[in-house]
Amino acid sequence: MHPTALIVNGSALSVSADPITPLLDVLRNHLGLMGTKFGCGLEQCGCCMVLIDGRPEKSCGKLLSTVAGKEIVTIEGLGTRERPHPLQQAFLDEQAGQCGYCLPGIVISAKALLDRNLSPSRAQIAAALDDNICRCGSHIRILRAVERAAALLRAQGSR
Ligand code: FES
Ligand code: FES
Repeated sequence: MHPTALIVNGSALSVSADPITPLLDVLRNHLGLMGTKFGCGLEQCGCCMVLIDGRPEKSCGKLLSTVAGKEIVTIEGLGTRERPHPLQQAFLDEQAGQCGYCLPGIVISAKALLDRNLSPSRAQIAAALDDNICRCGSHIRILRAVERAAALLRAQGSR
């Protein structure tokens, strides 16, 4: 099988998998990046969201062949347990989640928003997360967490 070149969380690598394999399967089953979750598999829930060349995309609906050579960022690319990304810290601080299954996708969508707008309104945050479903109903805390992360990032930038 012809290997496909990708950049994942800053590392250039090649994956030997069928070109019609969904990117979500590649991440989880070929690369061991289990943070990106399988929910519906139908591009409906957003829990498989990753950044592809900086844009939030549902990885369950992206075939490996369509992401060749692209830069992919998963939740593992944001921070670590020891050094969480401000978004991850803010979600912890706000306790923004119950089961947590939706959160990797939500944090990725929020990162895409904050990468282009560090002072989003609550309506802009809600719009950016429109493709992400949380069945636990943590929506208000999630909105607060994104606002808190934006404030943290603004403070970091002004230091
Ligand atoms: S698993 Fe991809 S959108 Fe639901
Ligand atoms: S926290 Fe459970 S689905 Fe969002």
